[in-house]
This record gives sequence, structure tokens and C-alpha cells, in this order.
Amino acid sequence: MDELKNIIRDVPDFPKKGIIFKDITTLLSDAKSYQRMIDSIANRYVGQRIDKVVGVEARGFIIGAALAYKLNAGIVLVRKPGKLPAETFKKTYDLEYGTDTLEMHTDAIKKGERILIADDLLATGGTMGAVVDMVNSMGGEIVECCFMAELEFLDGRKKLPAGKVFSLLIF
Ligand code: PRP
Repeated sequence: MDELKNIIRDVPDFPKKGIIFKDITTLLSDAKSYQRMIDSIANRYVGQRIDKVVGVEARGFIIGAALAYKLNAGIVLVRKPGKLPAETFKKTYDLEYGTDTLEMHTDAIKKGERILIADDLLATGGTMGAVVDMVNSMGGEIVECCFMAELEFLDGRKKLPAGKVFSLLIF
């Protein structure tokens, strides 16, 4: 996995001074790395029943859609406010400064469906925590929250269901 970690590019001072941004576009644009990354996550769930993969806008779609295709599951979109056309649940969560909101269609998940939630990155865990709350409120059974990468020092997994977090690459 070190090869995959090394292909992720560090961009200093983005989005603001002092922050080193993990730029995953260098991994995604390399055919072999993208395929290896998706296959490595998907293999963990092969043989399990996954009804739907929930992907989180925007970079989570790139992971979630490929996983759903491989696992013969549907893909459900978690979107930023005002993008989904039908009736939605909204969940507002805390950021370092201020709050953010995510939405899901109220009929996107049926009670008892087995759900894999996918995103590119686990940082503070605020985003995934909000998605977990929405999936739970719809009666979905969360198989796991999976990530391509995790910034371990931010302790984001503490906000997520114990034992139900998988990250392929740990920084
Ligand atoms: C990033 C990333 C995760 C989230 C992780 O998304 O893709 O969804 O932040 O951060 P957290 O664990 O601290 O909540 P961003 O909001 O930048 O959206 P994008 O994918 O549309 O760029």
C-alpha cells in the first residue's frame, strides 16, 4: 500500500496557509493505482450482501460508484444542499469554523437494507458522522464506513460506529 500512499501528492498551503493538502487526483488519474485502490477496498466485501453503496459528494462518488458496480449494488448519492430534486432528509454538522449540511432522498434506503458508505477521506469525521445518522434514521443496516484514506491524527473514527470503519491508506 506504500506505493498507493506515495502517489498521493502533498500540496502545501491549500486551501489555506499552513495546511498540507492530500491531493488524491494523482492516484485517480493513474490507471493501475485507481484499479488497485478500488479492487483492494471491494475485495473486503466480496461475498457479503451489499444492497447499496452510499457515496458522499463529490470525491466520494468516484470511490462509491466504482465499488457499487463491483459489488452489484445500487449507488445512493449524499449531496450538498439544493441539488437533490425529490423530498430529502437534511443533516447539519459542525466544521472547524461553522457548519455544513448534507442531504439524501428520504426514499433512497429501505429499512433493513445492507449499506456500505464510501468516501475518499476520513479527516475529522464530521461528514461521515452526518451520513451515518441519516442512514440510521432510514433504518439502513450499516455494514461499514469505508475510506480510501484516513488522517489518523485527527481521530475522526471516534465519531463513527465502533468496529465499522475501514480505511485502505492511513496517514
Ligand atoms: C472532504 C472529503 C470528505 C470530507 C472529510 O470533502 O472528501 O468528504 O471532506 O472531512 P471530515 O472527515 O473532516 O468531515 P469536501 O467537503 O472537501 O468536499 P468535496 O469532496 O466535494 O471536495
